[in-house]
Amino acid sequence: MAGMDKSKIGGGKNRGEKGLFEKVWTLANHRGFVFPSAEIYGGIAGIYDLGPLGAKMKNNLIQAWREFFVLRETNPPVYELDGSTILPYDALKASGHLDSFTDPTVSCLKCKKWMRADHLIEDSLGMYVEGMTPEELTKIIRENNLVCPDCRGGLSDVSVFNLMLGVQVGPAGGQIAFLRPETAQDIFLDFKRVQQSMRAKLPFGIAQIGKSYRNEISPRQGLIRVREFTQMEIEMFVHPKEIGNHPSFDKVKDVKIRILTREQQKKGETEPMEMTATEAQEKKILPNPYMAYYLAKETIFYQSLGIPYDKFHFRHMMPEETPFYSGGNFDLEVELSIGRKEIIGNAYRTNYDLSNHMKKSGKDLSISIDGEKVIPEVVEPSFGVERAIYCVLEHCYREDDGRGWSWFQFPPKIAPITALILPLVRKEPLMEISFKTYENLKENGLDVDYDDRGSVGKRYARADEIGIPFCVTIDYDTTKANTVTIRDRDSREQAFINKDDLVGIILKLVSGVIQFGDLL
Ligand code: GAP
Repeated sequence: MAGMDKSKIGGGKNRGEKGLFEKVWTLANHRGFVFPSAEIYGGIAGIYDLGPLGAKMKNNLIQAWREFFVLRETNPPVYELDGSTILPYDALKASGHLDSFTDPTVSCLKCKKWMRADHLIEDSLGMYVEGMTPEELTKIIRENNLVCPDCRGGLSDVSVFNLMLGVQVGPAGGQIAFLRPETAQDIFLDFKRVQQSMRAKLPFGIAQIGKSYRNEISPRQGLIRVREFTQMEIEMFVHPKEIGNHPSFDKVKDVKIRILTREQQKKGETEPMEMTATEAQEKKILPNPYMAYYLAKETIFYQSLGIPYDKFHFRHMMPEETPFYSGGNFDLEVELSIGRKEIIGNAYRTNYDLSNHMKKSGKDLSISIDGEKVIPEVVEPSFGVERAIYCVLEHCYREDDGRGWSWFQFPPKIAPITALILPLVRKEPLMEISFKTYENLKENGLDVDYDDRGSVGKRYARADEIGIPFCVTIDYDTTKANTVTIRDRDSREQAFINKDDLVGIILKLVSGVIQFGDLL
């Protein structure tokens, strides 16, 4: 496998069309979705702030995820945790992060720039080098006379670099700690506490949404590889004897999923196979029905975010990409203009983490069931929020389709602003009625905006540009017949509805209970 063409193994396909990434990223900056953190001081590479629109979109995305993967789950139930972002040395030694959470790195002897050695080789030679030792990577660099892509200077030997960011807790000589590299570890550390306080019986899940930190050697591609990001993770704890039986599997059994199998990758195939969750389970492509359950739910969820079904798939990670303890890893990869990118990592972590924390801490994390001590097995879906936001931005971006401007076709439930309220002209009583309508919608929990500046056409354009699904115009008919005009961003059609029905109608449009066409 070593040295084979990278384009044959998932990550490399669909490169090119870089223009789209630049376009979307520049728009996201200009329109206030995201910008560099501490920008006026030059910032820190790979650390970004989400502006007003990005922050709202992130909150909407998290809320949609919580509802779908946590709050509505009954069997098994999923509990929530809000753990610390600072973890002690011993915990991360036990989890393996201190010893093996590393990337291969190389530096330029002339300009001193640091680079990921594997990325440099993949980008320059298109070779697949996952799992190679620093010595093997150095050999490839020397044999192919690779130089610094920026200044063409010579390169150092490859060494390994730990990705965790250290912090010192307390004054000098205090405790050594690290910013957590994944939210998962709090869940393992608090497993017994949660189980006891909730009187939880296996199987049950613990979910956590929060920041994780990785000292990436070369952060790049906007939000795709950053140093501070948000994860939404679930650790599903299951009795080892029950791992072959998910109590709610029937709910997803017919959902179609796309999987790029190991066999396909070995043959150099890049087009995933389509199968139902049941078929994937029966053909033993997936290790257990818990994994199938999450892959099916992720397929439904990602489509609801506006990512087309045929633009993502699950890739069975090759053995050299998979931790030794794992019973199988399946990454959700989305096709982007900059290549296929991993957005979710799904892992069958077995009982590795709990067992290691038991050994290192000396504390019993097993559960007593019928007099037997049981260490649960774990299936983990791990979502990255910032990567998801970028995928939504790129897949919902629309070029000018004759309307005179480019726009975003965000699904209403994650659009940063649901509706724009505008008076036809800047005159009373239209302005007052508009503002009251805007206040009323806000009081009913809707994220709406008010705009009375410029022509109606310009205001529609501004709304489209930031992906607002609906515009509500107050005109003289409102004063006479209490009707308002509601414009649909996607079709640009307009419907006339009673002002008193506005809240209910917008709520139904957002939740998908009705479609805009139903109003015509
Ligand atoms: N607990 C398992 C875990 O953390 P991972 O594959 O390392 O697995 C899971 O990360 C997800 O977190 C990724 O699929 C990605 O969405 C996100 N992620 C990881 N590193 C990231 C980075 N440097 N920048 C942005 N998102 C990242």
